[in-house]
Amino acid sequence: MKKRIKMLAISLALVTGLSTVGCSSTSNDDVRVMRVAHNQGEEHPIHLALKEFEKIVEEKTENKIDIQVYPNELLGGQREAVELTQTGAIDIAVGSISLLESFNKAYSVFNLPYLFDSTEHYHSVMNDVDIMDGIYDSTRESGFVGLTWFDAGSRNMYTTDKPILKPEDLKGKKIRVQQSQTNIRMMELLGGSATPMSFGEVYTALQQKVIDGAENNELALTNNKHGEVAKHYSYNQHAMIPDILIMNSKLLESLSEEHRKIILDAADEINKFEVDAWEDKVNEAVKQSEEMGVKFYYPEIEPFKEKVLPLHEEMTQDKEIKILYDKIQNKAPKESTK
Ligand code: GCU
Repeated sequence: MKKRIKMLAISLALVTGLSTVGCSSTSNDDVRVMRVAHNQGEEHPIHLALKEFEKIVEEKTENKIDIQVYPNELLGGQREAVELTQTGAIDIAVGSISLLESFNKAYSVFNLPYLFDSTEHYHSVMNDVDIMDGIYDSTRESGFVGLTWFDAGSRNMYTTDKPILKPEDLKGKKIRVQQSQTNIRMMELLGGSATPMSFGEVYTALQQKVIDGAENNELALTNNKHGEVAKHYSYNQHAMIPDILIMNSKLLESLSEEHRKIILDAADEINKFEVDAWEDKVNEAVKQSEEMGVKFYYPEIEPFKEKVLPLHEEMTQDKEIKILYDKIQNKAPKESTK
């Protein structure tokens, strides 16, 4: 969307949003409108899951809750969406764990490169309520809580010019990372020049050669069209960073017990919906990307790992993070060699 139109949409949304902070109702007092913001396109599994959320919640509350889903950064980039959810100007948003680390340090551990040994390890941690419930709740006082998680696959490097086949290939390259200290540090350790920016700006930055590449899952190549510009995608598999569905905590607390349960159950349901849809969407994205002329590479992973493992040491100096880190490691499959 053109930036000007987008800004207009944001301003309009904020004007209406701010006038209803703390109550989120519309002219019809019996109906609560809940705005849900995210930064993906309408074909993305997260959007499809949120449309499912809308259907379930509206049906079960007999339309007493009206869920309105705003994709494509319509209500602002992800950082703004999270901050607006914090204040209550937006009710629900999707935030990558990369961004959430600046709201509570517990989230930062998930941004460690090569934290998980496999998809099974990753999913078993994310589905472990003993690990996740406390983390979802850790931002309650600052304005929002986590409801559930969405799979965002594994993150890999992609570039416009030459493929990244070893860490040395990153030297002198400007690579977009998410707005997260851990991600910036990771890119420094790998030898690239970290360029943090919001997701919606990446396409133009690649096109105008402001950056040489980025790192993300395969869906960025198709849903966000990055594959039109970046033709080299290297599976160095440095991270698996999920997205979290967050909700303004006062709003959640203000709901009747019945409506709160409907929201929480619907969140659980769409977690399964999204996770189940993920693999097929990735396969589709790879096929489409190949048709667009994107080449996929499978570099040796060990040299990348070696560069970034010091970050594990650095982060686990913090005692609370160390406890969480150990819990996560203990869930790793037994044959793990890390
Ligand atoms: C993924 C993730 C988004 C995130 C984006 C990014 O697409 O699902 O939540 O915003 O990466 O790199 O910014």
